[in-house]
Amino acid sequence: MAAGRNEQMRSIEQLIADQKPGYSLDQQFYTDPDIYELELERIINRNWILAGHASQLPEPGDFKVLNVARESAIIVRGSDGELKGFANVCRHRGSLVCLESYGHADRFSCPYHGWMYDIDGNLYAARNMPDDFDMASHSLKRVSVDVIHGLIFACFTDEPPSLEGARLDLAEPMAMFAFEDLKVAAQKSYEIPANWKLSIENYQECYHCATAHPEYARMHTLMLDRGKRERLQGKMHERMEACGVKDLLFDFIDTAARPGEMGYGYSRTALFDKYKTGSRDGGPVAPLLGNFTDYDGGASDFSFGAFSFLLAYSDHVVAYVFTPIDRDISNCEIYWLVRGDAEEGKDYDVDELTWLWDITTQADKTIIVNNSKGVHSKYYEPGPFSGMERAESIYIDWILRELKRPL
Ligand code: FES
Ligand SMILES: [Fe+2]
Repeated sequence: MAAGRNEQMRSIEQLIADQKPGYSLDQQFYTDPDIYELELERIINRNWILAGHASQLPEPGDFKVLNVARESAIIVRGSDGELKGFANVCRHRGSLVCLESYGHADRFSCPYHGWMYDIDGNLYAARNMPDDFDMASHSLKRVSVDVIHGLIFACFTDEPPSLEGARLDLAEPMAMFAFEDLKVAAQKSYEIPANWKLSIENYQECYHCATAHPEYARMHTLMLDRGKRERLQGKMHERMEACGVKDLLFDFIDTAARPGEMGYGYSRTALFDKYKTGSRDGGPVAPLLGNFTDYDGGASDFSFGAFSFLLAYSDHVVAYVFTPIDRDISNCEIYWLVRGDAEEGKDYDVDELTWLWDITTQADKTIIVNNSKGVHSKYYEPGPFSGMERAESIYIDWILRELKRPL
């Protein structure tokens, strides 16, 4: 058994060593079940994943369920008011305990034989068990949960990477948008029948934006050449000063992360001149956030670890979370966040708020699925990245590094 595993690790190590820098990955990285197992062990279950905003669970007993590959976590506000995570796996014979995705509970009652857990994960009722049965040693197992300035993160290991760098460095840009005071105005899941890496790789590059996303390309400037972009950046910096917000930059993303820490990054990019925000006509879609006294016509990219990416306009934030469902299926969860006191129907309209990133994500889904089909072909061969796929190339280097890393 062990020899088989060693053999298999050697061949994966060889495959990793054979990857050509600056090229897309070999087919096996998308199709091989052994590589997927290794990804679960070394990447997916060892890294922080955005699980929502603290305002979604205001009261003790409010909960939501986060499903990632084979794992499921109940994230609940405990009796002490703190957010906690529990494996959604019954300590009797392993059934899922909570079958709803959101709600409020006084207790969690397993649907199989009725064992009951309180909102702090403690088992307190189990019928017909022997007199000496020890309930205290059958609490739900813990899943790591932490909150960074209002954002809830979960990680399926007891020894997750440190969040301290992100918490400290991103405090200032997150305060600019008053992340703690945001609320979720809309949330949508997009199931993408493709390996999770293809979904994230697509998000990481804008080489495809000009051709695939006419709506996005009308307002976002990421695909412009450097000279044109710098002129627009300069104008935005002047407007930022007038709006009372600072230009900040952090790049501890992927391979640039400090050892033992979750990677993170922040930057702000100008929109085209007449766009105040990412909306159909460039006009406001919600009240200004945090410190903004006016629209600076920018969009900030936040990245938190390997799966969670946020885009912050002056009046709303769009949070993207990509996770595997299985080797060939991924989920893209999008949260649209607005100021906590904004009222639907008066201050914002959900259709207008979600228009750009809904239409863009539907187009991405089609591209990703086409990509996946070709990658499964016997004619597929890794191809060279363009200069506009740098972030994707770094992401792939990080994946390969993590797969090689001894546990
Ligand atoms: S599996 Fe949960 S009570 Fe039996
Ligand atoms: Fe896209």
